[in-house]
Amino acid sequence: MELERMSDMRREDIITLAIETSCDETSCAVLRGGRDVCSNIVSSQIDIHRKFGGVVPEVASRKHVENINIIIQEALDKADMDFEDIDLVGVTQGPGLVGALLVGISSAKAIAYALDIPMIGVNHIEGHVCANYIEYEDLEPPFTSLIVSGGHSYLTYVKGYVQYELFGRTRDDAAGEAFDKVARALGLSYPGGPLIDKLSKKGNPNAIDFPRVYLERDSYDFSFSGLKTAVLNYLNQMQQKGKDIVVEDVAASFQQAVVEVLVEKTIRLAKETRSEKIALAGGVAANSGLRAMMKARGREEGIEILHPSNILCTDNAAMIGSAAYFNYINGKISSLDMNVVPNLELI
Ligand code: KG4
Ligand code: ZN
Repeated sequence: MELERMSDMRREDIITLAIETSCDETSCAVLRGGRDVCSNIVSSQIDIHRKFGGVVPEVASRKHVENINIIIQEALDKADMDFEDIDLVGVTQGPGLVGALLVGISSAKAIAYALDIPMIGVNHIEGHVCANYIEYEDLEPPFTSLIVSGGHSYLTYVKGYVQYELFGRTRDDAAGEAFDKVARALGLSYPGGPLIDKLSKKGNPNAIDFPRVYLERDSYDFSFSGLKTAVLNYLNQMQQKGKDIVVEDVAASFQQAVVEVLVEKTIRLAKETRSEKIALAGGVAANSGLRAMMKARGREEGIEILHPSNILCTDNAAMIGSAAYFNYINGKISSLDMNVVPNLELI
């Protein structure tokens, strides 16, 4: 292993090749240091899965196998680099679909072995947080982070680059999952989050009084399945009564109910931990209603609100490269017999 060469070079000059295949995006990125993205190629399979109403795991794995080498080469070309320029390989270890993760991990192992360079298995959820280091080059921990994606919802205090204190998680559906399920009930296509976001702009968020679920008084956990059921019940009742459903109002009222709970709990944690900054992360961090309400509440409380740009909110390999870099300089190296961990938690 070329550890001597690595210790001689400036840490900011370490070149990382990162691979992300945890769900339905085949992605590869090249980074210089932890924040400078030389290339970030994201090949989405959404059009293929859309006709099934969600991600079909077997189809996802097969598409990753077909695409991975092409995407890796594209990332190298775009960065104007060759395999020989790479110092470190980062790859999503979990959470995600087992077959999909295996495609990325197998490629990463082959590259690390052939080039005799270190490999870092990255927690996908940590990757989402690290997207903020790419977006904001001066951002340093500590800060509060709300991570809301299709599979996960976490409320955490980021103590250091690879140090997290977990305060809340979802007890049932993830925030993005709730968006996708409600969208489906409204007859919208997959993934429904962006479509609900768009429709909400034309709807009245106070039209329907959907429940805000805060759980126990001091809890930082989330629960969205009750809200999802409330929307389904509302739609059924309207249909039974033969009344017209104003899709824009349902979307806006549902989104408002999700966002209010996310914002209030996140602001409360930021105040409790005396955070000066809140960093949003994950696919739902692209939601315009969440960003707007979080910023409004942040202004009231004197807390700065950060979020990655849309391409860095949803799944991408650049965020995995950033997380790999910060783990590497903090002493982590994965062994080549590393396996995928489909149910990996944040901590
Ligand atoms: O982080 P991500 O790309 O994948 C996972 O790690 O799960 O998140 C995808 C989720 C989907 O549920 C999608 O509907 C949701 O993020 N999403 C949104 C928006 N854009 C993506 N939800 C609400 N509003 C959006 N603008
Ligand atoms: Zn994700």
